[in-house]
Amino acid sequence: KRLVVLVSGSGTNLQALLDAVAEHGPDAYGAEVVAVGADRDGIAGLERARRAGLPTFVCRLRDHPGREAWDRALTEATAAYEPDLVVSAGFMKILGKEFLARFGGRTVNTHPALLPSFPGAHGVRDALAYGAKVTGCTVHFVDDGVDTGPIIAQGVVEVRDEDDESALHERIKEVERSLLVDVVGRLARDGYSIEGRKVVIP
Ligand code: GRF
Repeated sequence: KRLVVLVSGSGTNLQALLDAVAEHGPDAYGAEVVAVGADRDGIAGLERARRAGLPTFVCRLRDHPGREAWDRALTEATAAYEPDLVVSAGFMKILGKEFLARFGGRTVNTHPALLPSFPGAHGVRDALAYGAKVTGCTVHFVDDGVDTGPIIAQGVVEVRDEDDESALHERIKEVERSLLVDVVGRLARDGYSIEGRKVVIP
């Protein structure tokens, strides 16, 4: 299966996927990353892709007259690589109507909180501020809401008294990276069906 991964930052989730493919081989893992897209340049995530010899593309909102045109450009850039699955791994933009029309039902996102709690761009900070005792990460299919699509898997992480946002986020990311690698591999190898809010992996 062909994966396109979308990033906006350090790309450690992308790196975990690249390492899994390298370790097991694309056949055994069930998928390989064929391209990496971003909404901004100059990020470590793109460096990781280039180091792996992968094609990359950057779709910056400010290069387009509006969000719809940006969404169309992102859709076309992604479609050029004919992905079976798109993985949004720390991609910090909302995927628009055109993208979802094309890739909905085969785009997964990873979020650093236990959805439906703490959706949005600051899930780690919000859980900490709320005083949650446990938080974690969620891998879900993307739908037309913000972090509202059908949940595939979740991992729990305890919140420690001494945590600040970055310490907690780093601990969440350790769980998140292995959860994402496991989920993407299973979806690719075993296939899946989405029945309402239920994801079934045979
Ligand atoms: C991940 O925790 C993701 O859930 C959140 O931002 C982080 C991205 O980390 N949206 P990286 O770019 O994969 O290192």
